[in-house]
Amino acid sequence: MRTIAHISDIHFGKVDPPVAEALVAELHAKQPSIVVMSGDFTQRARAAQYQAAADFMKRLPSPQLVVPGNHDIPLFDVFTRFFNPLRNYRKFITADLRPMYDDEELLVVGINTARSWTWTLDGFWKDGRISEEQLLDVKLKACDRPAEQFKVVVTHHPFIPPPKERPHGIVHGAKRALDQFEQCHIDMCLAGHLHMGYSDDVRIHHEAVKRSILSVQAGTAISTRRRNEPNAYNLITINGEHVTVQVHAWDGKQFAKALRTHFTRIEGIWQREG
Ligand SMILES: [Fe+2]
Ligand SMILES: [Fe+2]
Repeated sequence: MRTIAHISDIHFGKVDPPVAEALVAELHAKQPSIVVMSGDFTQRARAAQYQAAADFMKRLPSPQLVVPGNHDIPLFDVFTRFFNPLRNYRKFITADLRPMYDDEELLVVGINTARSWTWTLDGFWKDGRISEEQLLDVKLKACDRPAEQFKVVVTHHPFIPPPKERPHGIVHGAKRALDQFEQCHIDMCLAGHLHMGYSDDVRIHHEAVKRSILSVQAGTAISTRRRNEPNAYNLITINGEHVTVQVHAWDGKQFAKALRTHFTRIEGIWQREG
């Protein structure tokens, strides 16, 4: 059995301090196998914001696996944005843009989906992308692994839209990525970006994908940039063919148990059990 504390979108520069303090104590109490942070460490990628984010991450349990988000690239400093977009991320958080966690039961691979430039109707700067080179990296790390090892990919940008919302923010290159994930028997994807917590089979949005892969989204853990949801994080328990996503949401005093979704994989298909 493994447990993943999945936090996201901490946005230093727009943090609620009491909630941040509570999350430190909360994650130490839960003692997860790994802490995953799926991007947007800062609000504007400024050095002081990165320093605060790095100090905060050092207070959380280890091991940790982290990826950057679109807010971790400067918006207004155009020179840095295009010529060294993740300079501060590398300096303050980690120089590893292809992180991996590996034990007998669990493999976690991170992909940096943040880009200096994407062009869509939704906006020219906030969307994400996965490159062929990054898919090759996933292939090298995750394919040819034992079947019993549970395999997870972490990105900032999501693979599925929130329930009852029009599709937006989906990572560019999702279809090709999912083809690769299928070949490597990836079991679950973790992401953030939309500041909403939800989970489902990727095939609710990608009907051509043959493999049933769970897609789990985290809300914003400690930031005031909430989208009609309280601050929250996911505690994900993986036990063979069973995955439980327990959302812990801030109730004004503590991170209390909120929505709990249990999935069982039956004949290769993830079935939701409430
Ligand atoms: Fe965000
Ligand atoms: Fe984002």
